[in-house]
Amino acid sequence: MIKKVAILANGGDVSGFNAVIRAIKKTAETHGVECYGYIDGYRGLVNNNYIRLDGNEKASGILPKGGSIIGSSTNAIVFHYKVEHEDGTVTYEDLSDQCVRNVKEAGFDCVFTLGGDSTQKSARDLFLKGINTIGVPKTIDNDVACTDITFGYNTAVSVATEALDRLHTTAETHDRIMVLEVMGRFAGWIALESAISGGADVALIPEIPYDINKAAEAINKRKREGKRFSIVVVSEGAMPKDGTASTHSAEGIDAQAGISVKFGGAGEKVAKELQELTGLEARCTTLGYMQRGGTPTAYDRVLSTKYGAKAMELALEEKFGVLTVIQNGHLSYVPLEEVVGENKEIGAVQGGTAESNVRVVTLDHELVKTARDVGICLGD
Ligand code: F6P
Repeated sequence: MIKKVAILANGGDVSGFNAVIRAIKKTAETHGVECYGYIDGYRGLVNNNYIRLDGNEKASGILPKGGSIIGSSTNAIVFHYKVEHEDGTVTYEDLSDQCVRNVKEAGFDCVFTLGGDSTQKSARDLFLKGINTIGVPKTIDNDVACTDITFGYNTAVSVATEALDRLHTTAETHDRIMVLEVMGRFAGWIALESAISGGADVALIPEIPYDINKAAEAINKRKREGKRFSIVVVSEGAMPKDGTASTHSAEGIDAQAGISVKFGGAGEKVAKELQELTGLEARCTTLGYMQRGGTPTAYDRVLSTKYGAKAMELALEEKFGVLTVIQNGHLSYVPLEEVVGENKEIGAVQGGTAESNVRVVTLDHELVKTARDVGICLGD
């Protein structure tokens, strides 16, 4: 019988974090289980910093709230943790044993890990070291393996759709090409789906390296038909056929922490080239963190609640080392072992890299077909 559980929210925030926290907490309360939250994700696990959530006023009324009431941390990998020493030196250390000790001493029967591929890789590794973990798939990029959808994604697509609707009217007024850069480093789900929902003419995603001439041709064709404006959606990870993705300079990037690149500039590059090739004025808008903040959509509130309640149910059934998923529309779970794919070694490659097991858009996916059917140019 489990008596005491803890939640940790990790990685870049999404709308829906709080809805999952609330659902776990409420389901725990229903079953008389004490519920705690680690502060700032894996950092809280390392520092043994947690608060009680059940019965806590601060954990009430949070369903529509963006962000995470227990914080979150990015780049906090307990197997390769940045330690800053008093003399100013920095080392990277494996603090996973300390985390195991902290969980055992606190008496948590289960730790829920809300996060993307990197978070779930650590959750699986900690499970192998003796912590009962249950993952819940989060990320606006929708690229966690084994699930059809992550919480936070629907809100991001809806923010991008609203942006496209607004860009449409200004594009039409000024006869311009409006480029919208959205997030998605390795997976183009946000770009593809918002291009469909926002009626874009071109969508460029990381999975289909683009030929800019093809995009220009599509815009020129519209021009010949009398439509002197066009809408283009670009994933931050989109890349030309004969080139690489647009990234910021290596300056300020902590390579030792496992962060090799920071994406940025893909939209500006596309806008500049399309202006040259079509003779139409082009402008770029980078949507950025707007996609992650604010209140979740109704869809995300329901999805997050289903995920949170299911996670707590799995804990009550003592099914650990698993991830809650939606497969073919049904709420279910899979072993974390499947989620990490071939990335088996404990403490090995984390998320956010091409090697990690991310779920990308496949060329035979129905969204790709739908996009092509309605005349969206995918740059190929
Ligand atoms: O959550 C994933 C993501 O949204 C990526 O698409 C993006 O590149 C990244 O987060 C940026 O996050 P941060 O600047 O917080 O590291």
